[in-house]
Formats: sequence, structure tokens, C-alpha cells
Amino acid sequence: MKNIIVTGATGFIGQALVRRLQKLIGDEGKVIGLGSSAVDLANRSAVFDWFDRLHWAFDCDHIFHLAALYKAGGWPVEHPATQFHVNMSINVNVLEAWARFFPKAKLTSILSYCMYPPHDQAHPEAELWGTEPEDYLFSYAFTKKAMLIGQRAYRQEYNLNCTSVILPTVYGPGDSFAENSHVMGALIGKFVRAAKSDQSTVEVWGDGQQEREFLYVADAVDGMITAAQQSEVNVLNLGTGKAYSIQRIAETIKQASGFAGAIQYNSTRFVGVQKRLLDVSRVQQEIGWEAETTMEQGIYDTVRWYQSQLSTELARAAVVSHG
Ligand SMILES: NC(=O)c1ccc[n+]([C@@H]2O[C@H](COP(=O)([O-])OP(=O)(O)OC[C@H]3O[C@@H](n4cnc5c(N)ncnc54)[C@H](OP(=O)(O)O)[C@@H]3O)[C@@H](O)[C@H]2O)c1
Repeated sequence: MKNIIVTGATGFIGQALVRRLQKLIGDEGKVIGLGSSAVDLANRSAVFDWFDRLHWAFDCDHIFHLAALYKAGGWPVEHPATQFHVNMSINVNVLEAWARFFPKAKLTSILSYCMYPPHDQAHPEAELWGTEPEDYLFSYAFTKKAMLIGQRAYRQEYNLNCTSVILPTVYGPGDSFAENSHVMGALIGKFVRAAKSDQSTVEVWGDGQQEREFLYVADAVDGMITAAQQSEVNVLNLGTGKAYSIQRIAETIKQASGFAGAIQYNSTRFVGVQKRLLDVSRVQQEIGWEAETTMEQGIYDTVRWYQSQLSTELARAAVVSHG
């Protein structure tokens, strides 16, 4: 550690940290500390300008990130939205500037034990997230959780009205049917194209035993609108509450598409979690909503839609090649 940036360097802990670091590295390197008068870290373009100017002249190998907006006493109770906006902005800007301008530097961020839930026992780090989302979806899932926190903060501070719905995998007409789409779209695409070109096999990723919940797109938009109009709660799971094995889905699509060949399961392909299913009791209680379309009907309608799209595309291609 030689050339160091400290955000929040003008604060209580930051000042002490800068003093100690300067003593530690002496003339071997340099500590650049910044407070809000040097750069407003919540202002994206100001942050990028500041880091851009610095990175030509300074070979930073470590960033301590302390800057945060926090005031003690009753202030947090009155200003949750301000805190969310400023601190999320500071954090996303610092992270992005680090990646853009000093990607070789190590970043150490300073957090707080108020992140843990309120109970009397000592908190292990494993408690931080409750049960974590799947590793490969962690970042996407957290941005969704951050949205919930933001909405709660804006509601509390500004008395704004909001709600959220959590969807399972949505499928139906208008979906993507490419191989790398989500499992339902990908399988409908594969089976319909295979039936049309008389292929002998269709490959299904995994062993077919993993289970997923699917919501037909017409039901999804119906539920979203009903929730927007009627929900008085923060968040509702908007699903069917039923999970089906991929094998059952594949066999239903096979039948709907008229594919006459064989299904080949490929267990070497990545398929994610074994089972995912929503508890839909709250949505039924709160707004009396239930999905209407059965899995079989949804698949049948989607297969018909994609078949007609393919025929139109093929007819168009034939016209172009003859024209
Ligand atoms: N103190 C504690 O007991 C404690 C406990 C747990 C965690 N922490 C964490 O430790 C870190 C430092 O705490 P602290 O007590 O030293 O905080 P502090 O005294 O309130 O200092 C906050 C620092 O952040 C800077 N800052 C705030 N908004 C900024 C912005 N928009 N742009 C640029 N800089 C901004 C401030 O700059 P200016 O002063 O120049 O405006 C100041 O240097 C924080 O992340 C805090 O969450 C503290």
C-alpha cells in the first residue's frame, strides 16, 4: 500500500485514518484524502472528472471508501429517502470510478453494524443477507432489493404511494425464442423449429428434474394492473404458486408443437437452482388475484403464436429471395 485515496477523509474516522496512513507510508507514497468540498461524490460527472484528472498523475493502489451521509439522532428517521439517494449515488459513483480509472487498486469499504437485524445475540457475517440469492444472480437480485428499500424510504420521507410485484419467469407471445432465452422461450423455440425442419432430436439442458414456476404474459399484465390499482402493501408475489418440472414442460411443448423426434437431456449444461416457486397466499388475500391460464393452455397458445411468426418470416424470406 503506497498511493492511497481516502473518501470521507474530512470526517471523524477519515481524518484519523489519513493521519495514520501518512505515518505508515512516510515518503514512500502519497495519501489523497477527499471531502465533499473537493468533489461531491453523489454527482456522477463531478466524480468521473475528478478521478479522470487524478489517474493521469497518480498510480493509486488502494482506495478506502468512507464517505457517507449519516447524521445521528432523529435525522435518519426523517430523511430515509435523502440517505438512500445520496448514499446509493455515492456508492455507485465510487465503484464505477474505481473500475474505470484505478482498476488495479484494492478497494476497502467501511460499513456499519446497523446492517444487522435487531436482536440480542452476536451477529455473524453470515446473517448479513438472510439466505443469499443464487451466486450468479447476486448483483441483479440486490439491485431489485435496493429498489424495495428505496421505495420504502421515499414513502416514509415524502409520503409517496407505491407498491411492487415479484414475478416468476414470464412467457407467451412476443417472448424471445432464441436458444439463449429463459428456459420456456428457449424450449418452445427449439421444439417448434425442430418440428418444422423434421429434426430427430431436441436437446434439453439439465436432467429435466429441476422445477420452475411460469406465468403467462396476459396473466402477468393483468396482475400487475390489479396490484397497481388495489395493492396497499409494499410487495406481492405475483405468480401461479405452481412449479413444474422441466421434463413436464418439455413434454407439453413437444406435444403442442407436433415434434415427432426424441428429447435428449444434457446434464452437463448449467441449469441453476433445483426448484423455484413463489408463495402466492398474500396476493390472493390482499387483492384476490389468481392467474387464469393453465400451463398447458399457455404453452399451446404460445406455440401457435410462434409457429405463425415463423411461417410469416419464412414466407417473407421466400418473397425476398425470389424478388
Ligand atoms: N462513526 C461511527 O461510529 C461509524 C460506525 C460504523 C460505520 N461508520 C462508517 O464509517 C464511515 C465514516 O464515518 P464517520 O463517522 O467518519 O463519518 P462523518 O464524520 O460523518 O464523515 C463523513 C465523510 O463523508 C464525506 N461525505 C459525505 N457526503 C459526501 C459527498 N456527497 N461527497 C463527498 N464526500 C462526502 C464527508 O465530507 P465533508 O465532511 O467534507 O462534507 C466526510 O468526510 C462512514 O461510511 C460510516 O458509515 C462510522
